[in-house]
Amino acid sequence: MSVKRILTGIRPTGALHLGHYIGALKTWVELQKNYECFFLIADVQALTTHVDQPELIEESVREVLLDFIGVGLDPTRENVHFVLQSGVPELTELTTYFSMLTPFSEVERNPTVKAERSQLRSNPTAGFMIYPVSQAADILLFTPYPPKEGDQLLVPVGEDQVPHLEQTNRIAKVFNRRYGKVFLECTAKVGQVGRLVGTDGGTKMSKSLGNVISLKDNSKIVENAVKKMFTDPTKIHRRDSGHPEDCPVYLYHQSFGDPKMLGERAERCKSGDLGCVECKKDLIRTLNSFLEPIRERREKAKKAPLREYLNQGTEKAREIGKITMEAVRKAMHLNYPSIN
Ligand code: TRP
Repeated sequence: MSVKRILTGIRPTGALHLGHYIGALKTWVELQKNYECFFLIADVQALTTHVDQPELIEESVREVLLDFIGVGLDPTRENVHFVLQSGVPELTELTTYFSMLTPFSEVERNPTVKAERSQLRSNPTAGFMIYPVSQAADILLFTPYPPKEGDQLLVPVGEDQVPHLEQTNRIAKVFNRRYGKVFLECTAKVGQVGRLVGTDGGTKMSKSLGNVISLKDNSKIVENAVKKMFTDPTKIHRRDSGHPEDCPVYLYHQSFGDPKMLGERAERCKSGDLGCVECKKDLIRTLNSFLEPIRERREKAKKAPLREYLNQGTEKAREIGKITMEAVRKAMHLNYPSIN
């Protein structure tokens, strides 16, 4: 039987928000029905930017677990595993080997690393610069081994992660060519709406930009955030003709509203029949009814055995990791059979 496996991950640097949902979580919830899933809480990768805030990472690991369950990921299914990155030493070992196979020039060229580097408040650490190599290890440790015809290693992510998946497959190719085939190349699956604009209309919803609505935000916080949202700057009065495709509020309706009502909303905005105040009221209602079941599941999850979910998932990851690492060491001649 062929292996259908998913590995994907998220950094625990705060509670998750609507951007995470649209870019990633929404797809993950669907895929858990048909795949063996490993959802990695990348606490080691979080250190690349938050090494000075261990308390924040600690708290965020719990928040992310609650958010995962809140959106409907289900760790009580036997095919769904929540994995703590720092609990899998095989990842660290594989990262070291992969770092030898990666030209530093490739690391420097990575557009996502470049963009993130320009936002750092301090000099990038060595660990920051090579985090795509460790991300390649995160992914390829889960290679079905030995890889068979029809096996899949799928990585569902937001579009900013695509350069990392290309890097991952370059490493897989180089390794396989040099040492013999151990790794299956991964397949990217990018969410339909790769990312959600921020409440300020900026290109990306991101905690550091202060333009987020979190999955755990209560209805009052959501209301205030939407009220403050930017709209089409050329539509000042209700009667003015608006440009919905340039309006963040409309983009949110597109992501969270009833698709059947979208055409009418756009028409009414353009014709001047729908004002921004009313349109925002609709969005507040839509977002709160979307978030309510998430908040409820999240609340309930506070009493669930989170530690056990994490331990079980991490243990399962190690089982697979040990198989992969044995193959890796053998392929790289690091097991020295001739020495007794
Ligand atoms: N880079 C991802 C983020 O910023 C997190 C991540 C770590 C990841 N390891 C991964 C994503 C492996 C996909 C696959 O959130």
